Formats: sequence, C-alpha cells, structure tokens
Amino acid sequence: MDSMEIPKNIYLTGMPGSGKSTLGKALADKLQIAFFDLDHYIEEQAGKDINRIFNEDGEVGFRAIERKCLVTLGEKPDSKVLATGGGTPCFHGNIDYMNQMGATIFLQVPLEVIVQRLSQQGTDERPLLRDKTAKELLGQLHEHFAQRKSFYLQARIHLEGSSITLEQIIDALKIL
Ligand code: S3P
Repeated sequence: MDSMEIPKNIYLTGMPGSGKSTLGKALADKLQIAFFDLDHYIEEQAGKDINRIFNEDGEVGFRAIERKCLVTLGEKPDSKVLATGGGTPCFHGNIDYMNQMGATIFLQVPLEVIVQRLSQQGTDERPLLRDKTAKELLGQLHEHFAQRKSFYLQARIHLEGSSITLEQIIDALKIL
C-alpha cells in the first residue's frame, strides 16, 4: 500500500447494517491502528447494554452518553478507527465535531440491502428497529434515512453501493 498520513480519528457513519463495524475493524487491522465500536464502548462505560440504556434513560439519555463517549474516544491520542452508531452524526452537533477531529466516511448502502442484512443479523440489540416485520423495518429505515441524510452527507467521504470494499475506503482516504 502507498504510504498515507493516517488521520487521528477515522469515523465510519451510516445507517444500521451499512457495514460500519465490519469494514471499520478490517480498516483498523489493515492500517495497524486501534478499532473502537462506539456502541460497545458506550455499553462498557454505562455498565449496561444499549437496550437497557434506552429503557431506563430513553433516547435522550442514550444520546447524551453517546456524545460523551464520542468525545472521550476522539481525544485519545493514538490513531484509531471508530464505527459510530446509525444516529450518532445527527445529535449534539456530532457531525461537526467528527469533521473537526478527523476523517468522516459515509457508507451509503441501499435500504433494501440493509433490510436483508438486518433480517440475517437480527435487530434484538437495536432498540429503534426491533420487533418489526421486514415491511415495517423498511418503512422505519426510510423514515430515519429521510431525517438523517442531510447529516450523513456532511461527511467528507461518501461511498455508495451494496458492497463497499476496504480498498474503496483506503483509496478515498489517500486522496482526502
Ligand atoms: C441507532 C443505531 C445503533 C445504536 C442505537 C441507535 C440508531 O447502532 O447506536 O441502537 O439511532 O440508528 P448501529 O448503527 O450500529 O445499529
């Protein structure tokens, strides 16, 4: 791989099921830097899982913890890849914060493909999407995407398709 300056923070954003965690982990391995899954970090810090946070603290509480964890991770000195949650860029000015702190990447995967993936992965750990039929899930995803698109589009790099690759991400980072 040609040499490239690795940003302090590389943020992967996009809808649930767009491949942020899988591609993020692969990217971190390739660049030999740390990987953080923001949802997992939030669960560790809160001492409870995402479902329990939503049940006990509501979405407002979740978004507050999410913001705090995003800032804590962003300030860690070493380079890292962060897989954010689907809603992360849309609250508390997080997209501006991430654009200031590093490279932001929006993975735009067709919602029909996301429904298929989520049907396989399951939505038990996704409180905003659980207990829905495939049709209801697609409707919910369309609604969220309509609300979120303007935030996602503020990411510096956009990659679109049903099978975005690690190589595409690395190429985009090289010319950032
Ligand atoms: C959310 C997505 C989840 C998680 C939380 C809220 C959302 O992350 O942060 O359940 O608002 O879309 P994933 O995108 O990893 O599913």
